[in-house]
Amino acid sequence: MIHDRTTSTRPPRVYLETYGCQMNVADSQTITAILRRAGYESVDRPDAADVILLNTCAIREHAEERVLGRLTALARIKQSRPGVKLGLLGCMAQHYRAALIEKAACLDVVAGPDAYRRLPEMLGEIGNAAFDPMIDVRLDRAETYADISPEFGGGVRAYVTAMRGCDKFCAFCVVPYVRGRERSIAPADLLREIRGLAARGVKEVVLLGQTVNAYRHNDTDFGALLKMIARIDGIERIRFTSPHPSDVSDSMIDAMATEPKVQPHLHLPIQSGSDRVLAAMERGYTVAQYLNLVERVRAAIPDVALSTDIIVGFHGETESDFDATANVMCAVGYDSSFMFKYSVREHTRAFKLGDSVPEEDKQRRLTALIALQEEMSLTRYRALIGRTFPVLVEGPARRGEGRLAGKTPQFKTAIFSGNSTVHIGDTVTMRVDSATGHSLLGTPIL
Ligand code: 5AD
Ligand code: SF4
Repeated sequence: MIHDRTTSTRPPRVYLETYGCQMNVADSQTITAILRRAGYESVDRPDAADVILLNTCAIREHAEERVLGRLTALARIKQSRPGVKLGLLGCMAQHYRAALIEKAACLDVVAGPDAYRRLPEMLGEIGNAAFDPMIDVRLDRAETYADISPEFGGGVRAYVTAMRGCDKFCAFCVVPYVRGRERSIAPADLLREIRGLAARGVKEVVLLGQTVNAYRHNDTDFGALLKMIARIDGIERIRFTSPHPSDVSDSMIDAMATEPKVQPHLHLPIQSGSDRVLAAMERGYTVAQYLNLVERVRAAIPDVALSTDIIVGFHGETESDFDATANVMCAVGYDSSFMFKYSVREHTRAFKLGDSVPEEDKQRRLTALIALQEEMSLTRYRALIGRTFPVLVEGPARRGEGRLAGKTPQFKTAIFSGNSTVHIGDTVTMRVDSATGHSLLGTPIL
């Protein structure tokens, strides 16, 4: 006999696993809040759950392969307990839509990023629909989930979605297709959310959006929003990710330069250092314009740390295009970089162009860039030995031994030996004694 656990008296249990970017982590907190409101209880193991959900990423093929592999493993749980419901949510759900059911027949629910509000309803209807999976992949340009307070996981730092979607349509990127049009959340809703977080002990907020600095709600632009958030008592640090170079405004730079709570770190994805490739990518800027922007930012915020995203092996990228990217990387002097091999995505404009760079070349270029960045990071981090930084303490360091870890204003990991006077959430002044290319080791000073 098939026993439907959800009909028993205890609340149905949901297990949610998250893949991909910070936006997905934040969306999972919204999903958890929606399901909790509908009477679900969260569990942290799939084998204890009545409903198993994966919130997924579609940015590169590799991300999707991981999820499909995981689904196969989870389908086994369903075989041993047929009452269990299995759902795939997020960008991959939106990307494949009904075709996902052919890839993974075990799925009961497929829901895109604008369909989470209807999840309880969809999960409730599964039994009635005689084996048909429930699919909702409608994009809704009005959906911001602004009225739903995401389930905050605790900690010193909280991520807050300020805008959703993307209108840029870079040729390689699937995001505008899976997350839909750009929409900003009203300042009043954001301020209410962040005040609530401050009341729960949050010291640092990270504003999220696919192109977060495209934020605009009526007369409030991104710079004005940063200044409004800076007025909230209890919030000590403000960060944001990811901005787009074309949306960097004077108002944003001014907020970073004049508002001490806005931290001096800018993630500024360049993607390529070749004008030809940038044009093919439809990024909307040239290398010279990007470098000019870097100069403006550095002039206004002298201690700013810069990081970036780079794609190697985009269709048509030659060795000399690649060399140009490596040169620009050195010229800017990034503190860290996220580097990726180009992955062709269905639906995008570049899909039709092709994939001319062989895998071995992509891998070689990626390895070379990673080595270059490692070398640059090490030099840049070591140059900080002897300097002092305010470090917001987040918790025990990963490799424990009584050490504590936090971030400098420039978002560098700082590690020091704890003592009884230092608590999580405190800001300590740390002198840097030594450095790797990924962290600063130091001593708190009084
Ligand atoms: N292939 C490889 N990397 C990609 N990114 C986005 N789309 C692709 C793709 N098709 C990278 C970009 C972006 C980051 C989040 O992911 O560098 O900034
Ligand atoms: Fe993708 Fe470009 Fe939008 Fe970033 S700005 S999410 S890379 S389309």
